[in-house]
Amino acid sequence: MHQPVLYKDIIHAIQPHSEGKYVDGTVGAGGHAHGILEASHPNGQLLGLDVDPQALGLARERLVPFGSRATLIQASYTTLASQLTGLGWAAVDGIVLDLGVSSMQLDTPGRGFSFREDAPLDMRFDPTQADTPTAADLVNTLSETDLADLIYRYGEERHSRRVARAIVNARPIRTTGHLASIIAKAVRGGDHLHPATRTFQALRIAVNGELDAVEKVLPQAIQALAPGGRLAVIAFHSLEDRIVKEYFRQESRDCICPPRQPVCGCGHKASLQEITRKPIQAGDEEIENNPRARSAKLRVAEKL
Ligand SMILES: C[S@@+](CC[C@H](N)C(=O)[O-])C[C@H]1O[C@@H](n2cnc3c(N)ncnc32)[C@H](O)[C@@H]1O
Repeated sequence: MHQPVLYKDIIHAIQPHSEGKYVDGTVGAGGHAHGILEASHPNGQLLGLDVDPQALGLARERLVPFGSRATLIQASYTTLASQLTGLGWAAVDGIVLDLGVSSMQLDTPGRGFSFREDAPLDMRFDPTQADTPTAADLVNTLSETDLADLIYRYGEERHSRRVARAIVNARPIRTTGHLASIIAKAVRGGDHLHPATRTFQALRIAVNGELDAVEKVLPQAIQALAPGGRLAVIAFHSLEDRIVKEYFRQESRDCICPPRQPVCGCGHKASLQEITRKPIQAGDEEIENNPRARSAKLRVAEKL
């Protein structure tokens, strides 16, 4: 079981203590959650959420030693406010969001997140949700223009039009390997990236509504924190990091009127203080042990 990304930084940011209540909104295999429960011994409590039933199973096993101090629920972090109401937790002392896909999900061929092995093109974080369109549904049904827009917007792929055209011409596409080979024929990679990397990222973000989810959870997280409580968010690509950065900037200001407006008319009040003006990133040693850590950016804010 390898250590999760920026493990020590997360524990340092959250500052767990024995009387605290904590939320891990992306509990995954339970690595960060384990650290928080250990550091808040003997009474700290943690709510762990994940949409992926398989991940939650791993977390459940890993957190057995903490007994009833850990509560695990299969749910999206976008339901944070109602989950806390359900538990009767009025406020919490720390919230962790380690966004995106886990190594476990990437490394499980049947999940269809990776093109390293040929597998059905799925990419749903919760594969039991029959009504959520899969990546195969998107590549086989969207119009060429919509597909190009999606690949451009969520994958920041400069050659999105060429990729979309190649996909539409090769339909139907059912597997990760087939999709990757179509893209590799249409465009070149670069910066050591496989040519399909950006398109795979785009499809995953679209299938799981990832950016919308981040936008929805941030206000709920700040609302849920007790004064002095901390929110720590790890983002893995610039699109989600930008959302977090802009939200933290905005909510740490007393006025959000346009810069040229002479007198404040918004009445906005700062609700948080940014603890990290610049994001925390993994050091060389961590990147060497876990190459995924290279793109991780951790931002921390404290509720006022
Ligand atoms: C990078 S992993 C987290 C790893 C975890 N921090 C650990 O220590 O093992 C991200 C997790 O977030 C989950 N996830 C993605 N979107 C979610 C959402 N909207 N609500 C809850 N969990 C989500 C994924 O299923 C995945 O398990």
